[in-house]
Amino acid sequence: MKVFVKRGDSYQEFEVPRQPSQTVLDVVTYIQRHLDPTLAYRYACRVGMCGSCAMMVNDVPRWTCRTHVDKVAKGDRITIGPLRNLPVIRDLVTDMREFFDKWARAKGEFHGAQTKKDDFAKVPPQSPERVLVDKGIECIGCGVCYAACDVVKWNPDYLGPAALNRAWTLVKDARDNQTLARLRAVSGDAGCHACHSHVSCTERCPKHLSPTAAIAGLKREVAKAVLQGDL
Ligand code: SF4
Ligand code: SF4
Ligand code: FES
Repeated sequence: MKVFVKRGDSYQEFEVPRQPSQTVLDVVTYIQRHLDPTLAYRYACRVGMCGSCAMMVNDVPRWTCRTHVDKVAKGDRITIGPLRNLPVIRDLVTDMREFFDKWARAKGEFHGAQTKKDDFAKVPPQSPERVLVDKGIECIGCGVCYAACDVVKWNPDYLGPAALNRAWTLVKDARDNQTLARLRAVSGDAGCHACHSHVSCTERCPKHLSPTAAIAGLKREVAKAVLQGDL
């Protein structure tokens, strides 16, 4: 199989033997171990839990450890590159700092009012608020949705689907007391209203989450807060 790996501004071609049940991560690992030890890439769990192996495969962002070559190879060729919309450190390794800085800008951290002396908060699993974020809290921050989003490409300031999904889970968290500050943080030009509802993030999320729905929820909450005179 011919494998084209993006390295800097150009692609380097490698010949990699096909194997049964071979994943794209297996291909990258084969290249690094047998053909070019200088190839830089990142992975950890190899079982779809950490999200660190995300790359562009034939121009589509994917977890490479969960992507079988048989499913994505075009003929006997495959193209692999670093995640889109992020600065590249080297070869297939991207710098995730701006991705997580945006989580901070979207107030993606929990602020509770209770102290350790208080009893545990009880959030019934079937409560409407909890059900709304049931899927969203499973995000592992892999950056696949961020790489899939054209609005991030056009407007690098845009907070993006993952940070906004995170903000949504906290807006609906009954224990958190920073809802208005968070809605303010996500309501600017680079926030939820910049989303064009293209749904690419939702189509690509390997965990089948829906950042698009989360962002629509944020838009509704922001509108409600504005009508109530809170924002
Ligand atoms: S929403 Fe999905 S694709 Fe986006 S960072 Fe979270 S797990 Fe990854
Ligand atoms: S729905 Fe919004 S966040 Fe998701 S890819 Fe489209 S523009 Fe980006
Ligand atoms: S290596 Fe952890 S998700 Fe692929």
